[in-house]
Amino acid sequence: MEAASYIPKNQNPKLGETAFWQAPSNIALVKYWGKYEPQIPANPSLSFTLSHCKTKTKVTLQEKAPHLGSQVAESQNGTSEFSFDFKFEGTAKPDFHPKIKAFFNRVHSYLPFLSEYHFSIESENSFPHSSGIASSASAMAALSLCLLDLSGEFPEKGDSFYGKASFLARLGSGSASRSIQGPLMQWGNTPSIEASSDITALKYEEIHEVFRSYQDSILLVDKGAKVVSSTVGHGLMENHPYAAARFAQAHSQIALLAKALKSGDLPSFIHIVEQEALTLHAMMLSSSPYFILMKPHTLSIIEKVWAFRKETSVPLCFTLDAGANVHLLYPEQQREVVVQFIENELVAHCENEQYICDSVGTGSSPVFE
Ligand code: DP6
Repeated sequence: MEAASYIPKNQNPKLGETAFWQAPSNIALVKYWGKYEPQIPANPSLSFTLSHCKTKTKVTLQEKAPHLGSQVAESQNGTSEFSFDFKFEGTAKPDFHPKIKAFFNRVHSYLPFLSEYHFSIESENSFPHSSGIASSASAMAALSLCLLDLSGEFPEKGDSFYGKASFLARLGSGSASRSIQGPLMQWGNTPSIEASSDITALKYEEIHEVFRSYQDSILLVDKGAKVVSSTVGHGLMENHPYAAARFAQAHSQIALLAKALKSGDLPSFIHIVEQEALTLHAMMLSSSPYFILMKPHTLSIIEKVWAFRKETSVPLCFTLDAGANVHLLYPEQQREVVVQFIENELVAHCENEQYICDSVGTGSSPVFE
């Protein structure tokens, strides 16, 4: 699909209507790191969709008039303006306005009604904020789903609806394109996956049963703000000395992972997933300027995971996102023994002994009040 095919012929928004959606977070197995304008990934990625960590967003379409505390912004071409207000967990958050305004600008041609109404946006996360869990993916996905729903372009919420929602979410945050459906999603054109696309993510379902209920226990090692944002990190892949090799590697990793996902080959799965996590951080260590997002506790956990796996043969592995937290991935069947291991040996490495147990999920859904 071309981006132009997402320009609507017909939208039918209705004043006073409310859309209410929840969208999950996701954890990448093959990592997206590096991008070009407009939000085109430098390499393909593949992620598990999560179940419990999610954002719920409600958007109400109101008449456009000067609203107290609302954001009124000129669009890029200066011909129209946006009007919205935003509350996060019940409190007005004007510091989020620039992000929303930039997003509205980016998706305006695909949702022309954005400049014709006032949008009242309310959002909340199921996970503790400042837990260090990236929330831009679930937040941008939930907002995109609400806006597309309000547009009235898709009375049926089928593949076309979710495809365009992923396209819009990508323009808000790359990884958000993968927070729409489940159990896995793949984003970025790559020869081994038919229909793969740089502009929208696809539901990925060719998987062995074991992965449908895979667990992700997120160890909250450091809840502070990151020293370098993902956006800056992506930018540092431009002129990175190892960029070309990394981007090529991601294509082969996806092809290998696809085989392991299909057959249920856990040793191969573990090898690819851990290599991806460490490669992501290796890119950060070798950027210019270089930076480190792992903390000493991150490394202690990794060493303990490796020792535990060696001793017990439990197929437990880790992955990392752009931060210090560690995601532990394992089959549901091993839940008891892994939770015991976390309690006995790993909570000591977590800030306030906090961790979140999540699992693979089925994707976004409307919320009924
Ligand atoms: C390390 O999607 O947060 O989590 O597109 O700039 O919003 P933007 O970046 P973002 O980057 C996520 C990077 C990652 C890997 C991944 O999720 O694939």
